[in-house]
This record gives sequence, C-alpha cells and structure tokens, in this order.
Amino acid sequence: MARGYGKVILFGEHAVVHGRPALAASLGRGVQAQAVPSKTGDRLSIDPWNHHVAPDPDSHDALARAFAALLTHVRHDRAPLHVHAQVQLPAGAGLGCSAALSVAVGGAIDELLEQSMGEEEEIGRSLAWERIFHGTPSGIDSTMALGRGLGVFRTGHAFERIACRVPLPLVVAHTGIASPTKDMVGAVNRFSEQDPEAAKGIFDGMAAIVDNGRLAARAGDLSALGGLMELNQKLLNALLVSTDELENLCARAREAGALGAKLTGAGGGGCIVALAPDLKRAGTIADALRGHATEVFTTEVGVPPGKVRP
Ligand code: PMV
Repeated sequence: MARGYGKVILFGEHAVVHGRPALAASLGRGVQAQAVPSKTGDRLSIDPWNHHVAPDPDSHDALARAFAALLTHVRHDRAPLHVHAQVQLPAGAGLGCSAALSVAVGGAIDELLEQSMGEEEEIGRSLAWERIFHGTPSGIDSTMALGRGLGVFRTGHAFERIACRVPLPLVVAHTGIASPTKDMVGAVNRFSEQDPEAAKGIFDGMAAIVDNGRLAARAGDLSALGGLMELNQKLLNALLVSTDELENLCARAREAGALGAKLTGAGGGGCIVALAPDLKRAGTIADALRGHATEVFTTEVGVPPGKVRP
C-alpha cells in the first residue's frame, strides 16, 4: 500500500507561488493507494468518491487528464494496471488532497512494477499531475505529500526540515466550501499585476513571518507562532483570499483559546488552522468549531518521523 500525505501551510501560502518561502507540515492523514494488474487497460478508481477514469489527455474530466499526465512518467513497456485509491482528506480544502493523491497513485504503480524512484523524480511526476489541477503550482503540496514533516519550502531550493522543540497542537476546520486553487492563484496574480507594489509588500511580509516562524518553531515558542499566524492571516486578508466564513471560524477558534488562527492553503473557502496551547485545549477548540464547520480534526505536527498522528 502506497501513501501520500496531506499538508497544512502555517505561513506563506500564495507568496510561495511568487518565489518566497513557506512553512508547512505534512499531516498524518492523506491518501492510500494500491495498484493491481488490469485486463481492461489502465484505470484509476477513487473508491470513496465512486470516481473511475481511464487516462485521457483530452478528457473533460481533469482526473483522467491528470492520470494521463502522471503515466507519461511511468515506463511504457508494462502491462495495464488499475490503481485503487482511498482518500482521507476533503478535496479543494487547502490540505493538499490532489498532491497526496498523485504521490499515492505514483507510489502504488512503483510498488506493482517493483521499481523505486528518487525524491526529485517522484516530485516531478506529482507536478505533472498537479499542473492539470493547479496551473502553476509552487511545488509545496507535492513536496509535503512525501511526508517530509515540518519545514520551510521554497521553489528551486532543497526542503529545509525544522526540528521543533515541542510538537505543535493544531485544529483544522473546513468551511465546507470547495475552492479551486487554480482560481485563487489566478486572482492573486491579477492583484499582483494591478498593484505590484502592494503585492510585493505583502509577499515580503509573509517571507519575514516565515523567517520568524522558523525561529519560533525551533524554540518551541507557541505564543510567538500564534502571533505570527494572526499577522499572516491579516496579510492573506489584504490579498483578498479570505472570506467571511474563514474569518468567522478563526474568530471562534480564538474565542475558544487558540493562540492564533488563519486560513490554510489557497483560501476562498477550504480550511482554517488554529494553534492550541496543548492537545487538551485543541480538543476544546475543536468542540467549539463543530456545528460551524463541516469537518474538524485535531493533530500534532513537528513530531519526529514515524510518530505523525492522524
Ligand atoms: O490549496 P492548496 O492545498 O492547493 O494549497 C495551495 C498553496 C498555494 O500557495 C496557494 C499554491 C501553491 O502552489 O503553492
């Protein structure tokens, strides 16, 4: 069984598409996939969604196009295969579901063909898939989908893993509104074209937040991290990617004791992430958000590899 991991961006989404760093953590939950020989040609089944496709670069179905793009990175002298995927993440929610799917599907094919790929090749294969859904992905989702833990991503640079002094207790809550990353990235591109000075200021501000976030994570300074999340959310709001629903969930999380809360991922819908002082308080915050969000879960990130909790 192959796995791809979801992710949560703590600082720097959108700015990362414009060359700045972002700080993110892999989630314990993601996608599991298995490939078996097929008698009817290549197939991909996302079983929980009852969505079944054959690879087709010209299909109106983006999943069929993405599967075709991924298979261009798989050797052609092979028998047909059928990949079955189990998804534990909401799609279009800013948690990197699509990249997790691509990494799990690619990994399942590797397992069946008894081949292994280097990380760079795995990321390249995932990006071929991601371009179908996202247009110009920074690569953060594909990198985090490999289950890299917590660290700083910057396009074209090696992933910088951060050893956190303490695990970070998080609450993730979904507005229930699906938001295509491609549309949100396009909206930020337009913002940046119309007001390049303002956009530069916002992106540079987020880069400074990432630099401070790196230090605070290393030191295990949760209240500093919470404050930086608040600042990052203000900058995301200034970029016009936040919504009333996201702001309301952030406010409820703060009222329930969160040290900081912000949208995570592309915005326009999707999820918020809130930082709790400890796991017990994370449970209280999660309880306060239930009934106002379609899905709520708690998790710890920054824990050593092999101990990531779903
Ligand atoms: O919404 P998601 O999970 O696809 O996260 C996207 C993060 C962005 O910075 C908005 C886009 C990107 O490619 O980095």
